[in-house]
Amino acid sequence: VTVAQVDAQGRLRHFLTLEGLPRTVLVRLLDLAQNFDDRRGDLSLRSTLAGKTVCTLFFEPSTRTRSSFQIAAQQLGADVLNFDASTSSTSKGETARDTMKNLEAMGVHGFVVRHREDGAVAALAGEARPGTALVNAGDGRIAHPTQGLLDMLTLRQAKGSDFSQLKVAIVGDVKHSRVARTDLHALRTLGAGEIRVCGPKSLLPDDATTLAGCTVTEDFDAALEGVDAVMMLRLQRERMEEGLVGSLADYHGAYGLTARRLQRAAPDAVVLHPGPMNRGVEIDDDVADGPQSLILRQVANGVAARMAVLEVLLGA
Ligand code: CP
Repeated sequence: VTVAQVDAQGRLRHFLTLEGLPRTVLVRLLDLAQNFDDRRGDLSLRSTLAGKTVCTLFFEPSTRTRSSFQIAAQQLGADVLNFDASTSSTSKGETARDTMKNLEAMGVHGFVVRHREDGAVAALAGEARPGTALVNAGDGRIAHPTQGLLDMLTLRQAKGSDFSQLKVAIVGDVKHSRVARTDLHALRTLGAGEIRVCGPKSLLPDDATTLAGCTVTEDFDAALEGVDAVMMLRLQRERMEEGLVGSLADYHGAYGLTARRLQRAAPDAVVLHPGPMNRGVEIDDDVADGPQSLILRQVANGVAARMAVLEVLLGA
């Protein structure tokens, strides 16, 4: 990170990563997100960010993150500018930095940025003027902090706020997943009892730091045994072209979450997936749409979590 996201007084200036974010700040954001979830439809919230302008600046595709940031900002009364990179002057070669600086000059107060390059959002935050806030909506393989926040909110609602006895399995393409890295930081910060990381060797991270404190296995059945929560990851299909996994059928056979396999987890285990899902590959329909799935609750919590971040960064 090239710029501090928390200032000397402990205030959040940008929201770039959950790595190193103090537990007090993370818990405060979760409490605030829960409050926004409880106050769904409360029109009095619309004065919270009145007069502020939020720009969603996405250089990669998105359905959930971008739309929920737009809804979150609107519910807090902010004006929202949805920047479409494909029809912008970035197609003429304008840099992300110049794009941001121009929009900042127009009066944008907060940028929600997604970029394919590791560290790109932190670098842009370093270029912003004081008072302009940046939110990382996903950069490269590194971080997707609001996804981590909504995932922790979803787990907290299902299992309570004491994670000390919680057993969680994170399964699939961990190596290339910014969601996995982010959730690992959050689970460690919140003191999760046991974190299991599972996937084929070719899709597991090779650095010890990412996997610190985790039990690592290639055996999905073993990883599922008795867990309270299963966090499935999207198989990034381009990895097949790179030869990192075999056929889709082979992958499903070894790492697809089926209803039968889910029986190995605790009877009240919950299933999460950040989306978009490859149905029939990493997760079966009857699990994704079944009674243990919290996948649409995650999506709903995305609005509340993003309201919390915007309120903390841009509120009075
Ligand atoms: N989970 C997630 O980031 O989804 P989108 O890519 O659709 O935003």
